[in-house]
Formats: sequence, structure tokens, C-alpha cells
Amino acid sequence: MHHTVKLSEKIHWIGVNDRKTHLFENLWPLENGIAYNSYLINDDKVALIDTVEHCSSEEYVDKIESIIGKDKKVDYLIINHMEPDHSGAIRTIVEKYPDIKLIGNVKTFKIIDAYYGYKDNLYEVKQDDEIDLGHHKLKFVMTPWVHWPETMMTYDMTDKILFSGDAFGSFGTLDGGIFDDEINLEFYEDDLRRYFSNIVGKYGNMVQKAFKKLEGVDVKMIAATHGPIWRSDINKILSLYDKWSKQETDNGVVIIFGSMYGNTEKLADYIARKISEEGIKNIRVRDASKTHVSHLINDIWRFKGVVLGSCAYNSGMLPTMEHLTNTLEHMGVKNHYLGLFGSYSWNGGGVKTLNKFAENVDWELVGDPVDIKGIPGEEAFAKCDALAQEMAKKLNE
Ligand code: FEO
Repeated sequence: MHHTVKLSEKIHWIGVNDRKTHLFENLWPLENGIAYNSYLINDDKVALIDTVEHCSSEEYVDKIESIIGKDKKVDYLIINHMEPDHSGAIRTIVEKYPDIKLIGNVKTFKIIDAYYGYKDNLYEVKQDDEIDLGHHKLKFVMTPWVHWPETMMTYDMTDKILFSGDAFGSFGTLDGGIFDDEINLEFYEDDLRRYFSNIVGKYGNMVQKAFKKLEGVDVKMIAATHGPIWRSDINKILSLYDKWSKQETDNGVVIIFGSMYGNTEKLADYIARKISEEGIKNIRVRDASKTHVSHLINDIWRFKGVVLGSCAYNSGMLPTMEHLTNTLEHMGVKNHYLGLFGSYSWNGGGVKTLNKFAENVDWELVGDPVDIKGIPGEEAFAKCDALAQEMAKKLNE
């Protein structure tokens, strides 16, 4: 018996859970695993919407057959997104159903050609094009760069379900419940934001463009390619994506440091305490050498205040901090108050290079950067106090 779930009379979730992969895209930690959601519409014409990662191809085909049987064929594979976590079973599906039509847009087909060399049985769609499956009528919405150039969404006009691709997705497996009203959403809160910030965050302006295209569309259910299916509280996920894609943050501060022998860490703890004394309750202190950059980005996406500290290392910052700041620049992260601190033993480098980061990003530098030689003493802590006061003042405004 294969585990499939009905979204409506003819529409089925046929996704799979992945608890084996350690790193999504071989980059981002999957402490809670991930689900690859695919959907099957068993109408007069049978359509699949996206597939799953290739390791689960066999289970995936079994799920399809458990619904349509061995004799019925799949007519269409709608490809909302070509990233291999969703396109990984395309070859298996094409080999099993050789007459299947692959539905995508012109950019989808360029990637299909690059991956598989397929040039036949391609069915190109553009913005607002429709297809009729019998009972179900589908419309296509082009949403490039959410998260690759070819990404699009499929809207089922009959049941008003939006198959949204990566948008509105989450890390985390679907452990029994697959709908938002079947699960405790607190379990997904962090993984939702982390998924957005790590995977889609760079393309926030394209998420806003997608919102504009969806204006006026009556959506009763959002079925993404990862995470829960939203049917009870659609506004929750829509408002979260609206907020995150505008890089709007909560009041609070994350202090992230790189420290070899503890001096820079002492400054971090002191700054945290002083900010706390000013009434700020949301404070996180993170060691960049221990906490994966995925979670650091997640914290930064959450909080308005960011205080970065580094010891000197080969006249620059500690490589773990350098990795973080490079990633933030690459992602185009904005709308933050920024404080800087660090320490060194002879000629410095940590705070100097953090200052360069500050010049490269459009964040508001708060207070004077604190750069301490040797073990921090009274004077060093007084400078950290001043920095903390400035940050707290900004956050309390
Ligand atoms: Fe879930 Fe961009 O792939």
C-alpha cells in the first residue's frame, strides 16, 4: 500500500519524504529532512505536476500506479520547475509513458534539452495559457526566478488550487499530516523561514512580481513542492512570504562572532548583556564556527539588528565569518542595523575587513566599530557598551 493523500476528488499528493540527505543542494543542512511534493490529477486526461528527486523514482511510480492502475497512461507532465529535486524522476516517467507530453515554457525546454536532450513531445505554454483535462481546467502563471529562470506555477481553476513550485515551501518532512490544519505549524516555523531565506531569499523582488501576477486569483489551496499544503490559513503563508520577500524583520538582534581563543566571544557576550539591559528581548548570540551559515542567514532574515564580530586571521577576518559576509553580499541582504566588533593580537584585520563588508552592503552602520588589541579590559568593554547602547536605541525607536 502506497501512501498518497487526496487534495480533492481527483487530485492526489504523491510526494515522498527524504530523511537521508544531509545537505539540500549539498549546501543547506536538513536536520528535519525534506519532502518533495508531486501531484497527480486523475481526470479524463491524467496529469502529473512536477516529479520527485531521482532516488525515490521507484516509490514514485508505485504511487502513480496505485491511483491510476497499470493500464492507464499519464498524458501530461507539467514541469513547474527543473531543479533536480523535482525533475529527478523525469527520465523514469518518460521511459514508462513514452507518449507523455512535457508541459513547460521555452526556458524549461532549454534545461530539458541540456539535461536529457528531449526535443519531442514538448508542449509549450505561456502566461495565462490553459489546458483542459476533462473536469479540471488548468492555467499557467509564469513566475521566473522563484527560484530558477524557468519557474512557473499551475493554477487549477476547477478546485482553485495553486501548484506553486518552490514558492511557499519549507524544509522538514511531512510526518503524517500534510495539510496546515493537520500539523502543529510551530514545528515548521523556523524551517519555513530558513527555506525562504536560504533558497528563495535572493529573489525576493521576483516573489513580489509573482504576487502581482497572482492578484485577483481566487486561491483556496496552495500546494508547494516542499512542506505543508496550505488550505486552512492561506493568508498566513502569503503574509509571511510578502514580509520576507520585502526583507521586513522583527525587532531583535543577532550577534554573530568568529573567535579563535575566546576574546572576541567575550565581547559578544558583553554586547548581548548590555543590549538586554536596554529591554531588547529577542537576542541570539551565534558562533560562526559552530553554527552553519544556513541558520545564521535565517537569524539575520528574522532580526533587524545584526552585530558581527571577528578576530583577526591572516590579516583578514576568521574564514567562517568571511564565508558568512560573502554569502550575505551574494544574496543581496538589506534593511539591517549593523554593529561591528573584534579583536587582534598584533596588526589586526578582522574589523578592518568587516568594515569593507559594511561599505559593500546598504545597511545602516550603528555606533563605532570596536577593535580591541589583546585581552579585553575595562576600556574595551566601555566601547562595547557604547555600541550596545546605540544598537538598542535604534531597535527601541
Ligand atoms: Fe525545490 Fe528550486 O527546487
